[in-house]
Amino acid sequence: MNVPSHGAIGLDQCLVLGSSGFIRASYGDYWKFMKKLITTNMLGSYALERSKGVRAVELMRFYRNMLDKAMNKQSVEIHEEALRFLNNILDKMSMGGCFMKEKNEEKVSKFSVELAALTQKIFLAQVLRSPLEKIGISPFKKEIMDVSNRFEELLENIIAKYEEKVDEHQCAEIMDKLLAASRGENAEYKITRKHIKALLAELFFGAGETSTSTMRWTMAELINNPKILERLRGEIDSVVGKTRLVEETDLPKLPYLQAVIKEFLRLHPAVPLLPRDVVQGCKVGGFYVPESTSLVINVYAMMRDHDSWKDPDDFKLERFLEKEEEKREKLMKFLPFGSGRRGCPGSNLSHILVGIAIGVMVQCFDWKIEGEKVNMEEASGRVFLAMAHPLECTPRPRILIP
Ligand code: HEM
Repeated sequence: MNVPSHGAIGLDQCLVLGSSGFIRASYGDYWKFMKKLITTNMLGSYALERSKGVRAVELMRFYRNMLDKAMNKQSVEIHEEALRFLNNILDKMSMGGCFMKEKNEEKVSKFSVELAALTQKIFLAQVLRSPLEKIGISPFKKEIMDVSNRFEELLENIIAKYEEKVDEHQCAEIMDKLLAASRGENAEYKITRKHIKALLAELFFGAGETSTSTMRWTMAELINNPKILERLRGEIDSVVGKTRLVEETDLPKLPYLQAVIKEFLRLHPAVPLLPRDVVQGCKVGGFYVPESTSLVINVYAMMRDHDSWKDPDDFKLERFLEKEEEKREKLMKFLPFGSGRRGCPGSNLSHILVGIAIGVMVQCFDWKIEGEKVNMEEASGRVFLAMAHPLECTPRPRILIP
């Protein structure tokens, strides 16, 4: 099985999930070249080790910003704070800090909101591609292309600035390699400028929405479950102490934090549905699926399946502390990052980002909300599983990090 090939109903020029993008590219030379380039220069373990410093600086900024608000008794919206933290990190990792300059931050956030609202339409247009193509319909095309064209223009300007002012911002490994490949320098595959913009759009948008949504669900659940929050705090205090911020090298020593994040990812997977096109007829669960069938895999349902999980609708993070459950993970039942060749290449980075952001929010602040409990209603009509209501809360400093 593979993801659908290019050429969605009139949307192949769309920057996100269009024909130049990586996420929907069919398995072939282009996909292989990009996957290698992304892994080697940004998301693989060696690349992540090299970019550790960037994340530490941004984590301190994230903490300071929240501390300022706490001191001024201001409330914060977790999604907004998380998105800023994430965009700044992705910007530095992919464009050396060029992206967020000159009020681009505001524009990028605005595009993220517009794109998030459009994802369901893009998804539907892609999944229903074959039947609709036959009757010559291109739904939502104008709306989608309008946002895509404006986003593309912004990205073109940013890339041009990256190329011009090479010494005013740090160089980013991945951007240098992408630009070299677009000039045909020693590249196994010659890519176009559009490929670069599509990749950036997908990285910023996809990674931003998924990771921030995970952070918001996790904080909401923790606020609603004070006993778990306290136990988590105890773990962080005993491993990290109270004089420095939690760091990414602490994460392997924080099994409870990791189990908390995994259990919330199981209950609230940011990407609940995975599309696939069958490139070769095959049997799935005893059913024959013919070639060219479009399938949607419901990982949300799979991770709440009674046959695979005990009390699947209950929050039981112990399942990720037990050896038996670790086996389950390996058995492909824990699927928030998809699986196989097309599984998420950013899963290691997201474990780090979610881990340190949640770690700091729990370690350094108490959280107050209006009312007794956070409303956990799921938003409808979205491709990403988002909360229906903003998570507005007020931080109070718990410890002060020098
Ligand atoms: C909690 C955060 C995240 C979640 C839940 C998540 C989830 C997913 C899922 C479910 C897929 C589809 C997998 C499949 O079809 O089998 C995917 C694909 C992808 N993700 Fe993530 N992701 C997250 C964060 C990130 C980050 C931080 C990055 C990079 C900066 C990233 C980059 C990608 C890319 C490039 C693909 C496409 C892979 C391909 O088509 O070969 N993701 N992600």
